[in-house]
Amino acid sequence: MTGELSPIDKAKFVAAKRAVEFVEDGMRVGLGTGSTAAWMVRCLGELVREHGLRVTGIPTSTRTAELARNVGIKVVSLDEAKWLDLTIDGADEFDGDLNLIKGGGGALLQEKIVATASDQMVVIADAAKGVDTLGAFPLPVEVIPFGWQTSKALIEEMVASLDVMGSQTALRMNGDTPYITDEGNYIIDLHLKRIGNARQLAMVLNQVPGVVENGLFIDICDRVVIGYGDGRVETR
Ligand code: 5RP
Repeated sequence: MTGELSPIDKAKFVAAKRAVEFVEDGMRVGLGTGSTAAWMVRCLGELVREHGLRVTGIPTSTRTAELARNVGIKVVSLDEAKWLDLTIDGADEFDGDLNLIKGGGGALLQEKIVATASDQMVVIADAAKGVDTLGAFPLPVEVIPFGWQTSKALIEEMVASLDVMGSQTALRMNGDTPYITDEGNYIIDLHLKRIGNARQLAMVLNQVPGVVENGLFIDICDRVVIGYGDGRVETR
């Protein structure tokens, strides 16, 4: 499954491999999105195919749903599963309180709903994703396409009054057209550099008309499994 991996892929792989050890027979498991989560889905698929582990996967994107089916994991919707035992997902940044920035891969909305509907959320990440203060990674905010420029202007106004270092915003593009999420929405990336009060920002952003959800995951993650390029793994 792995062949010769680059240090970054090795870090993601070892974190993913360790995290699937938390999955027990019969569990309903939220399956995250992104390159690290994809390693986890492959590792879980191997446990299903070769060790007979019985799991039901609840994917957080169409990409993950396709991968999960391809590796032999039974997939159902969140509405079918209703409540999950565990979600394993990647992150763009995590801090010392296990608060996160997510959504670099554009799946933050389903990811937040699925993680919140889980008894436990385990994040898997390479060590470079650990930060003292969130914000160096652009914060994704999902908005509906209608009036998105108005929502963007309101976000800029709101953000400028808070404890952040920058307030530059950019509509995420896919070539010449806006990037479209699985829910048919747009993403505005906020270049804030440093988020002084992530909890406050998360609440304020969701008050802006047109904003569906933001990529700050506050008090949602229970554990982070950190992988290193030399194969070491650490759990916090
Ligand atoms: C997708 C996400 C991903 O988990 C996040 O972007 C990390 O991705 P990767 O594992 O590829 O670095 O939030 O919406």
